[in-house]
Amino acid sequence: MAVEDMSYRPLLSAYELMEDPYGGFGRVREETAVARGLWNGSPTWFITRYDDVSAVLMDRRFATNSQSLPGGTDVYAEVMAKMGVSEKLIPYLAGSLVYTDPPDHTRLRKLVLRAFSARRVSALRSRVEAIVDGLLDALPGHAEDGVVDLVEHFASPLPITVICEMVGVPGEDLDTWRAWSLDYTSMDAHRLNTMLTEISAYIHDLAERRQTEPADDLITGLIRAHDEDSDRLTDTELVTMVLTLMVAANETTPALIGNGALALLTHPDQLALLRADPGLLPGAVQELLRWCGPAIVAKLRYATEDVTVAGTLIRQGDQVQVVPGAANHDPRRFPRPGELDITRNPEADRAPHLAYSRGAHYCLGAGLANQETEVAFARLFARYPDLRLACPMDSLRWKPLPVTRQLQELPVRLETAP
Ligand code: HEM
Repeated sequence: MAVEDMSYRPLLSAYELMEDPYGGFGRVREETAVARGLWNGSPTWFITRYDDVSAVLMDRRFATNSQSLPGGTDVYAEVMAKMGVSEKLIPYLAGSLVYTDPPDHTRLRKLVLRAFSARRVSALRSRVEAIVDGLLDALPGHAEDGVVDLVEHFASPLPITVICEMVGVPGEDLDTWRAWSLDYTSMDAHRLNTMLTEISAYIHDLAERRQTEPADDLITGLIRAHDEDSDRLTDTELVTMVLTLMVAANETTPALIGNGALALLTHPDQLALLRADPGLLPGAVQELLRWCGPAIVAKLRYATEDVTVAGTLIRQGDQVQVVPGAANHDPRRFPRPGELDITRNPEADRAPHLAYSRGAHYCLGAGLANQETEVAFARLFARYPDLRLACPMDSLRWKPLPVTRQLQELPVRLETAP
C-alpha cells in the first residue's frame, strides 16, 4: 500500500483516539468490516468485528514481527532507533515475546509458561492479599483534604510489587523498579536508554547471585533453563524476558484496576450487586475487561501471505491492526454491548471477551491479572464502604496512549465526611 495514496487517512479523530476509543472504533466497526486508514503514519487495515478479530488473532499467517516477512526488516526496532533509543539497547525491547514469531516464540514462551500456571498463580494469592491490605492501610495517609489518588497509591503499586516478588527482586529494590517502570512509560529516549542500561546490569547481577544462591523465583527458573535446556536462553533473552514481564504487568493491570474502579463507582447498581454477592466478583472482573479493558488494540500484525478477511484481500506484507476494544462491544456477539452487566458471565472461565487477545500471543499473565484485580476489588470495597469519586466525571484525564485506555488519576474520598 502506498502512503501517498490519499485514500489513506487516520480513521479516528484526535478526540476519539484519546477520549472515546471504544466509541470511535465502534463507529468504524459499524461502517465496514475491514477498514483502511493510517496508523502511526503507515497504511493499515483495521479489523474491528468480533469474529474477524478472533479469526486474525488465531491465524498463523499473521506475524507480529515484520522481520518474519520475506525480505522484511524489524519495523518496531526501526521506530525505536528513530526515537533515539541506543542501537545496543533496542534488542531488549524489540525481542519481547509479543514481537516474536515461531520458532523463537514457541521456545521462549515455553520457558515462562510454568511460572504463570493456574497452580502457581493460586499459590500467590495470600501474598497478593497481604500486598493489597498493606496498600489499603496506607491509603488514608496519602489523602489530602480527604481525597486520595487511587491510581497512584493503589492500582499502580500493586502489580509491580507482585511481579517483582515473582521475579525475585529483593524488597529493598522495589522503589528503584517502580522508578524504572515510570521511565519505560515516559517514552523519552534519554530516560529509556538510562533505564535499559541500569536494568540490564541489575538483571545480570541478580542472575549471577542466583547461580550461587538459588531461590524459588522466576529468575532462578530462567537461569536454570539457561544452563540446562538445549534451547538455552541467551543473556540478552534473559534480560528481555524479565523486562517484558515487568512492562506487561505494569502497563495493563493498573489500568484495569483504575478503569474498573471508576466503572463500579459510577454504576452504583452494579456495585450494590457485587457487595450483596461477592461470588459475582470473578464474572464482574471479566465483564470489566470486556466493557473497559485497557488493551484497545493488539500489537500490529503483518500478513506473511495473501489472506482474505471478511471478503477483503489483504496482501502479503500489509500491516493489520486488530481492535479487541471494538470487538468486545460488537452487538453481533454481545447483546446490549454498551451496558455494564456484571452478571453477564456466570461462568467467568468461559468469558468470551478478547481483552487478553487470543491464539499464540494470548496474555501470559491473564490468570495473575484476574487474581490481582479480584483481590483488589474485594478488599477495597469491603474496607471502604463509603468510597466515592471525588471529582466530576468529565474532569478525569486519560493517559495520551492510543493503545491502552488508562486514567491519569482517580481521585476518591475514602470516607463520608462526618
Ligand atoms: C489487565 C491486565 C492485562 C491485560 C488487559 C493484558 C493484555 C494483553 C494482551 C491483549 C496481550 C496480547 C497482545 C497481542 O496479541 O497482540 C498480552 C500479551 C502478554 N501479556 Fe498481558 N495483559 C495483562 C496483564 C499481564 C500481566 C500481569 C502479565 C505478566 C506478568 C502479562 C504478560 C503478558 C505477556 C508476557 C504477553 C505476551 C505473550 C506472548 O506474546 O506470547 N500481562 N497481554
